[in-house]
Amino acid sequence: MSDAPQPRGGFATRIGFVLAAAGSAVGLGNIWKFPYITGEYGGGAFVLVYLFCIALVGLPLMYAELIIGRRGGSDVLGSLRKLTQSSGPAGAAVSYAVGGMAVASGFLILSFYAVVAGWAVYYALAYAGLFPLEAGGDMFGSLYGKNKSLPWHTFFMVLSVGVVAAGVNGGIERACKVLMPMLAAILGILLVYVGVTGGLSESFTFLFKPDFDRLLRAEDGGLKPDAILEALGHAFFTLSLGMGAMVTYGSYLKSEVAVVRDGIIVAILDTVIALVAGLVIFAVVFSHEGAEPGAGPGLVFVTLPGLFADMPGGQVFGFAFFVLLVFAAWSSAISLLEVVVAFLVDSLKLDRKMAALGAGFAIWGLGIWPARSTSALDLLDNITTKYMLPLGGLGIAIAAGWLLTKEDREAGFRALGPIGDVLAKGWTVIIRFVTPVLVALVILNKLGVLGGE
Ligand code: TRP
Repeated sequence: MSDAPQPRGGFATRIGFVLAAAGSAVGLGNIWKFPYITGEYGGGAFVLVYLFCIALVGLPLMYAELIIGRRGGSDVLGSLRKLTQSSGPAGAAVSYAVGGMAVASGFLILSFYAVVAGWAVYYALAYAGLFPLEAGGDMFGSLYGKNKSLPWHTFFMVLSVGVVAAGVNGGIERACKVLMPMLAAILGILLVYVGVTGGLSESFTFLFKPDFDRLLRAEDGGLKPDAILEALGHAFFTLSLGMGAMVTYGSYLKSEVAVVRDGIIVAILDTVIALVAGLVIFAVVFSHEGAEPGAGPGLVFVTLPGLFADMPGGQVFGFAFFVLLVFAAWSSAISLLEVVVAFLVDSLKLDRKMAALGAGFAIWGLGIWPARSTSALDLLDNITTKYMLPLGGLGIAIAAGWLLTKEDREAGFRALGPIGDVLAKGWTVIIRFVTPVLVALVILNKLGVLGGE
């Protein structure tokens, strides 16, 4: 493949790509999910396990996806088809299975992701004074599974379709170049704020002082080893892996020279933002007598608003927090939509604007279901994040490790010189053996074979 500009469009700058990929990675997973699962599993030890998983499964898969996209130069299905040609029928079978599931995952995940993001939109507007600020529980209760969430869900989908319809450089790159620095600034301000209002040192201890007893032992004294598998599953959800989002973004890269380094930068940004979000949220929790870090999914939408209510400047803080959540969700939602749109544009040759509108409309329509039904929301979340993404990750690891030519496989390491050779060999062993086995363990655990969940 040459580095000639691609007629299908692409990122104009390297920093634009890094911000877009980080925008995809940093999302509800970092600011909503990471803190609540860390809270449930008792803090520091879980964080440590999670960091290992990012390094052992996340980074290798991130590189696999980026290089498949960069060398394939097409949507997830097209890229896999092209690069696995030399592997005959096995290559074709894996391509269609992984590619098809990837597009379906993007479709299904966005349908409920936009619902949760819609709640965040409503909260941000309520803190801005547009709606009465009720107690967290009441506010959440009026949205969760209710028709009242529909306008906000709709609004959020319009935002996402608008960006994707405007193209990779004119839409995605431009949006992320504004959203990501703002997100970092808001998070920084929130960190300073909790530094003043208190709880930061307890929060720090909670997140960074590992207590393995707490991780592995449930309240009743039983073991809960599924914490490790939960950390593994979350590691690739948070890095947007397993459904070709990074394949798609990688396909818009102009050069493969910096693929390895950029992948590492994205993973570090994602991890740092999750940890800082955790620090902020738990500082708020610990500055209140009796508040619970292990409140589960309601931590951000129920517990936090209750605590903001009696903090100095709590309304401004609440507003900033939910704007942060909306920005994070928005830059992730566009990557979910882009996987579907790139497939329609590259593989089915549709016009981008039509594809974005059509796919957006269909995803919005499906989203009405999880917006109105909490069990539908759980169902879609479970099917996709517990089964489809791990299976997709497994397929991508197999394709990258076993079905690509050596030339394609090692392309991103070449620019690194002699160290690149060593890294390429190490990566090949990991992606062939370690990643598939670990991901298979996650899937077996989710199926209950290992006694988890
Ligand atoms: N990574 C995002 C988050 O943390 C979610 C996300 C966006 C995602 N695109 C994805 C997850 C693709 C898996 C695959 O919220």
